[in-house]
Amino acid sequence: MDTVKKLALSRDLDDGELSALISSDRFDGELREQADAVRRKVYGDAVFIRGLVEFTNYCKNDCYYCGIRRGNKNAERFRLTADEILACCEEGHALGFRTFVLQGGEDPFFDDGTLCGIVSSIRERFPDSAVTLSVGERSRDSYLELYRAGAERYLLRHETADNAHYGRLHPSVMSAENRKKCLFDLKEIGYQVGSGFMVGSPYQTVENIVCDLRFLKELDPDMIGIGPFVTHSETPFANFESGSAELTLRLLSILRLMFPHALIPATTSLGTVSPTGREDGLRSGANVVMPNLSPVRVRNKYLLYDGKICTGEESAQCVACLDARVRSAGYRIVTDRGDVRRDGGSV
Ligand code: 5AD
Ligand code: FES
Repeated sequence: MDTVKKLALSRDLDDGELSALISSDRFDGELREQADAVRRKVYGDAVFIRGLVEFTNYCKNDCYYCGIRRGNKNAERFRLTADEILACCEEGHALGFRTFVLQGGEDPFFDDGTLCGIVSSIRERFPDSAVTLSVGERSRDSYLELYRAGAERYLLRHETADNAHYGRLHPSVMSAENRKKCLFDLKEIGYQVGSGFMVGSPYQTVENIVCDLRFLKELDPDMIGIGPFVTHSETPFANFESGSAELTLRLLSILRLMFPHALIPATTSLGTVSPTGREDGLRSGANVVMPNLSPVRVRNKYLLYDGKICTGEESAQCVACLDARVRSAGYRIVTDRGDVRRDGGSV
């Protein structure tokens, strides 16, 4: 049986077979076809939207790839107030969003009390909507408090599952081990968990990607976010090339086949490296888009990488633009909470 069929039938592939799929373009057509068939079987043509609120670009970490790293003295820093965050959700709710993703750097200003207050006000004001947090590594107690305050989902990419590779992307105070511990803590508390990695990050090998896929299998997340590494000129990786849309699309299809039920976004970074990146991402197995709801005045400050798209658009424009893109790719946006379907699926 050929490798793609095996994968589509949920058979385990060995490392050699997975590496072959990752490193060659000759399976791409078949991979995409099978991935789209599986996605349609589980989720039909539905594409879920998540309203992204980037609420702080202060960060105590110094990841070598990231534009808002502490060491980037040229980054103009901002923090939204609780009222500003609520106003973004208000606007998003009127536009049909039923999930809000609060994303930020690891900013000590947002301690547990402050963040719990924000989460619970959103839940009170919009009881029909889910709150997703994406605020990095915190203690298990902190994750538990935030969960109790009403956050039900958490996004924390593992970035790379290989310890040595992790060490080349981060200062030594950070570790793959702690990252993974956080992910298992979150899961155990009861969050719907999202993880993922960058494609084409500096020093990444095919073996590293196989290791990422194996780690994801072990974690079994509800959401998986991958996007190309994109160069930021004011980081230590300024001279590394961005990752490719092609490999990202191939991996999206592989992920859809390995995780038929996962919620997988067509990311902004994919749209940044290729003008049709997000549409292609949807056709390759992705089923989530995350329009930006942040106030326009801070959009061009949350720059994890160069050339980021959607930094000039109002929220409503961003939604309209994505709606058109989703339709052109052959799918339709749905506005419910978009919880993961762990059952047999079918829409
Ligand atoms: N290129 C692409 N993605 C990046 N991220 C951070 N910096 C970059 C970059 N230069 C991703 C990381 C992080 C997520 C919020 O954004 O994977 O987890
Ligand atoms: Fe933001 Fe197109 S998705 S402007």
